[in-house]
This record gives sequence, C-alpha cells and structure tokens, in this order.
Amino acid sequence: MHCMDDDVAEVLISAEQIRTRTRELGQQISRDYQDQDLLLVCVLKGATAFLADLMREITVPHAIDFMAISSYGTSTESSGVVRILKDLDTNIAGRNVLIVEDIIDTGRTLSYITQMLKTRGPKSLRICSLLSKPSRREIEIRVDYVGFEIPNKFVIGYGLDFGEIYRSLPYIGVLRQEKYEKE
Ligand code: PRP
Repeated sequence: MHCMDDDVAEVLISAEQIRTRTRELGQQISRDYQDQDLLLVCVLKGATAFLADLMREITVPHAIDFMAISSYGTSTESSGVVRILKDLDTNIAGRNVLIVEDIIDTGRTLSYITQMLKTRGPKSLRICSLLSKPSRREIEIRVDYVGFEIPNKFVIGYGLDFGEIYRSLPYIGVLRQEKYEKE
C-alpha cells in the first residue's frame, strides 16, 4: 500500500519540534496581547493545522475568523495576483488582528492581504507564520512571529499541500523531487 510518507524525501521539521515552537509562539502572543482584544485571521487552507494548534496555546481570550484567497498561478509558484474567495465574517475596524499563515514565500500573498485589511481600519495588524523562506522573498514583509526559517525546498505536511494532498502529515517534509517533476 502506497502511503503519503513514501513521497517524503526528508523530514525537515518533526511533529515534536512543531509542538514545542507552537507552544513558545502561543506564550509570546499571550504575553503581547494580555488584557487586549485579539482576533486571529486564518488564511485557508494551508494555515488550518497551525491555527488549530496555535489557538490552543494562546491563553488570552481571542476570536478566530477565516478568509480564503486564490492566487493565480501554478501549484508551485504563486503569481501574487490574489482573488478573495471567502471574506472575513468579522468587521475588523478597531480590532487587534493577527494573521495566521503557514508559509511566507515570495511575500506577495501577505503583502496583498495586509494592504487590503489595513484599509478596513484595524487597531493593529500583525503576522504570525509557521514557516518563512527568506531566500524566496520578492516583497519585503514584516513578520512579527515566525516559527521556522527554512531553505528553498518544496515542503509539504502540517497544512501544506501538493495537489491538495499531504496536508494531514503531522510533520513538515520535503517532497520527493520525482513527485513534482512528473506534474
Ligand atoms: C500558500 C501559503 C501562502 C502563500 C505564500 O498558499 O499558504 O498563502 O502560498 O506564498 P507567497 O508568499 O509566495 O505569496 P497556497 O496558494 O498554496 O494555498 P493553500 O494555503 O490553500 O494551500
């Protein structure tokens, strides 16, 4: 039986490492937002696993909301042109908004989202991303909370997909090259 782990060349970040770092981030966020309003905004779909774990490590009261966007481009390259598929349910005017992302690559997606959300008048707008690939950055983005800086490898798992599969892997792995070269 073929299983998802067979398509992983290397485990880059283990489930345990993710757990430990997520706990640290949750503690830091809880300190920073103590006695303040907090709304976590999760960008679907990649950030869902991270949000689910991060929110349970945040001890201060907070709400969550979701937005879905689609970037025009291939599955491995984002074009930076972004379309909103699902907008927030929440009016963020006057709210402390923390965007929760799985990965920042070129920075185009978050650059677009932050610009758009800023026009809605939040009290504050910060970014928390589990992963960052600094070597790929095309647009400079200030990331307030980063889980791990990673090299430019094709990563899957813990929310991140290839062709919509592998999001359920409990760790961050590197996809075997022959898998994406076939596409
Ligand atoms: C990923 C990720 C970010 C974006 C980062 O989303 O979740 O939103 O790409 O890339 P960038 O910094 O180059 O813009 P993706 O489009 O793969 O959608 P998904 O979260 O639904 O998998």
